[in-house]
Amino acid sequence: MSLSLNLDQLPEQQPVAHADLQLPAEVILIRDGQQVSAWLNICPHQGRPLNYAPNKFLQTPEGYLMCAAHGATFDMKTGECVNGPCRGASLRAVPAKVGPQGQIELTAPDPL
Ligand code: FES
Repeated sequence: MSLSLNLDQLPEQQPVAHADLQLPAEVILIRDGQQVSAWLNICPHQGRPLNYAPNKFLQTPEGYLMCAAHGATFDMKTGECVNGPCRGASLRAVPAKVGPQGQIELTAPDPL
């Protein structure tokens, strides 16, 4: 599915929430240069969203994404929890690519 979002609308290394009815949960989009990563906004610890308010996410000074519920921290490139109660688990990736005009295209992840 092609999103209404374009890569140049995303801030660098800042998580952005996106809701799409074709996906089982909100998606976290993270731009890294000319690439984008996408993750379901579901913490592997207790299944809560990682944000503390609509489209508001915590990041550590080292650049990790932090779950607002209990402080699990995630590598924004791999989605792996590197510290906290679900260490070693991972956010669920949503396959993402950038089209020739910069449009972001997501593929629904496999069912659980
Ligand atoms: S739900 Fe995310 S750390 Fe507990």
